[in-house]
Amino acid sequence: MTLSEEVLRLKKERDAVILSHNYQIGEIQDIADFVGDSLYLSRKAKESKAKVIVFSGVKFMAETAKILSPEKTVLLPDLEAGCSLSDSITGEQLRSWKSEHPGAAVVSYVNTSAEVKAESDFCCTSSNAVEIVRRIPTEREILFLPDMFLGDYVRRTTGRQNMHLWTGDCFVHTRMRPETVRRQRALHPGAELIAHPECGCTTEALSEVDRILSTDGMIRFAQETRDPQVMVATEIGILHRIRKLNASTEFIPLAPDAICPFMKRNTLEKIRDSLRDLKFEIQLTPEVMDRARKALERMIA
Ligand code: 13P
Ligand code: SF4
Repeated sequence: MTLSEEVLRLKKERDAVILSHNYQIGEIQDIADFVGDSLYLSRKAKESKAKVIVFSGVKFMAETAKILSPEKTVLLPDLEAGCSLSDSITGEQLRSWKSEHPGAAVVSYVNTSAEVKAESDFCCTSSNAVEIVRRIPTEREILFLPDMFLGDYVRRTTGRQNMHLWTGDCFVHTRMRPETVRRQRALHPGAELIAHPECGCTTEALSEVDRILSTDGMIRFAQETRDPQVMVATEIGILHRIRKLNASTEFIPLAPDAICPFMKRNTLEKIRDSLRDLKFEIQLTPEVMDRARKALERMIA
């Protein structure tokens, strides 16, 4: 029996569903029930009737699934699959920031711990951050966290003046700088450039980026584009799906070394072990889950 067959057999035995983020390695994407961005996978976790959810992604994503489906067993195949962006702010730091801006609305990107979500009014993903900020009354101050590049993009797009940004970043995306864009533009003149809003280049080279898209936004774009060449500024795991969807366009990674080591901790072997031994189960206190759920439900709605 191959490893993939073993995973599928255990999945059936356990009444499990496998969710894979767009940055997972190709062989995981190929056996997953659903592949997508954080928002899509949060919805699928909530809708699923399965007893067990194996989240092939990073810890904050598995925590999000647990908060939305507290009755299910949510498993993360490797507990070291963290996120540098999510680690850039703690619950304690957020409480202290809030005390400096009483009454402000706290908008947290989904890349945050359950404890930080519990302190937030709204949660957002890269695909709905602009929409969520637009819905908050203009006179109310906003604390946006933790990604400063996404925050800056939202601030420019909405023209919102009273929005304060936490200075966190993702170490994979922040390295994609305006110089990287210029270098690649010289090598591939005429190629369209699509970028994830966590990229460092989305701020200083905004005018050079053709489209700023979440990972699922990139997938939709890839399905429709007729451009001969497209440069993709995000983690390179997404290219597996993009290239399968559109074989006539050449998709070029803006930074071929943009690899998230946390996302890549997951392997088919670890998913097999996770299903076999029901490990590693995400456990959160009911109090944190109840408070975090309010912010998340506003995002899902
Ligand atoms: P998406 O919400 O676009 O999937 O991004 C999640 C992420 O971690 C990007 O680095
Ligand atoms: Fe976190 Fe960046 Fe990895 Fe996304 S790519 S999971 S933001 S460290």
